[in-house]
Amino acid sequence: MRVRGILRYGLQIPSLGVGHDFYRNFGLQVEERDQALAVRCDGRDMDQAVLHEGPRKQLQYVAFSIEEGSLADWKRHIESTGTSLVDAPRGADQGGLWFEDLNGILVNLREDPLAPWRKALPEEQEFNFGDNIQRVDRTRWQTAGTPASPRRLSHMLMFVPDMAKAEQFYTSRLGLKLSDRIPGHATFMNSGPGDHHVFGFIQSTHTGLHHSSWEVTNFDQIAVGAQTMADKGHVVGWGLGRHTIGSNMFHYIQDPWGSWIEYSADMDRITEAWEGHDYEVPPAVWCPMAPGTFTTNFEQPR
Ligand SMILES: [Fe+2]
Repeated sequence: MRVRGILRYGLQIPSLGVGHDFYRNFGLQVEERDQALAVRCDGRDMDQAVLHEGPRKQLQYVAFSIEEGSLADWKRHIESTGTSLVDAPRGADQGGLWFEDLNGILVNLREDPLAPWRKALPEEQEFNFGDNIQRVDRTRWQTAGTPASPRRLSHMLMFVPDMAKAEQFYTSRLGLKLSDRIPGHATFMNSGPGDHHVFGFIQSTHTGLHHSSWEVTNFDQIAVGAQTMADKGHVVGWGLGRHTIGSNMFHYIQDPWGSWIEYSADMDRITEAWEGHDYEVPPAVWCPMAPGTFTTNFEQPR
């Protein structure tokens, strides 16, 4: 059995006001709901993050989509692995199955579909490159500065104390598959045909949110987003670059709580035939130097 992909994550933060402004500035829609903030992408009918107020930043849960009508089968499957189901946390949407992963992060499986996302505009996709000429007698500069507007949550990476055990847990419970690894540093997982990775792990002493990644259409959107966030005071970032594993172009911004949020574009796509490998490579093909705190886990051990 395999999940269809990530629906959203639940994040506790010390101030909903700060969270509201940060996610709005990033280009997302933020709506107050039941003393929490629901974060959505423009044109996508689906919560992609839910922010709850609490004493400190803490990743609370990750929700994954499962096939409609499969909940009873999933319940049997999860319980057959020796993992006990638990109640949904207070304030979270109660539906589906809830259980703790090996590090105490809650996992929620629910039959909600992955909503379609906003289509890219023609001008965002046209590119004149070598002999591939797609734009003639039209300018690009007059549209290239459109504010960044992510279309969907692409993936997220968690800090974990043992990447092999985390990989084993999420493979056996959720059916995620290995995409690739950078041994000793990071493991990337997929949920079948589609994005090279939708989830993954970064080595740390304890668990926590490393980053969430949001897909934009092209590198103009990445750069405009980065510039907007810097103008708003979020000057600690890393990018523009192109990753090795997954090949996506990126710019990260450090959030007010020490995690990172990523604009991402042009990730590799894979089929069922994809086989994961170990690569002893740096995290990017080209990029400026990463901030020294890029893999510092500021989340307190739970
Ligand atoms: Fe990423």
